[in-house]
Amino acid sequence: MTAPDFTTLERRLREHLDQEHRYEHSLRVAACAQELARRHGIDPQKARLAGLLHDLARLYSPERLILETQARAMPITSVEREKPALLHASLGAALARERFGVDDPEVLSAIAKHTRGAPEMSPLDCVVYLADSLEPARTFAERAELWEYALRDLAGATRETMRRSEDHYARKRAAAEARASAS
Ligand SMILES: [Fe+2]
Ligand SMILES: [Fe+2]
Repeated sequence: MTAPDFTTLERRLREHLDQEHRYEHSLRVAACAQELARRHGIDPQKARLAGLLHDLARLYSPERLILETQARAMPITSVEREKPALLHASLGAALARERFGVDDPEVLSAIAKHTRGAPEMSPLDCVVYLADSLEPARTFAERAELWEYALRDLAGATRETMRRSEDHYARKRAAAEARASAS
């Protein structure tokens, strides 16, 4: 991969996102992804690029996520139809290609898998997934511990982080159902 011009990319990303909070998060994810990549012998520029561009569609409304996904004839699962925010990962990969000229399939895969992970993940997929989940502004209790784990063992930390997030969402769903049945 020829070296991307990160200064220009960051300026264009800031314009595209049009929100400082999301831009700062993207910079932190890029830095964390780069650090993990270096630690594990993965191309740090690909990691930085995927980290920077991972949330391109994060601020789109549910309606826009559905419409833009349909417009590209990309599949939408029943879970995604219920929770369109999940589509920001696959749509983000499409936007990285269309608007930012990224054609590296490894980078696009890492963007597409950053939210939920996937049964099959490359080391770069794991790096971006972990960087997004564990960047320093995340506040959950096990964050620092999982980050240390990620520096030592990419696959192990990915499994553990995915398991933790599944538990977290299962608890949230159960609490919402309990509230709904109590009202
Ligand atoms: Fe995201
Ligand atoms: Fe993110």
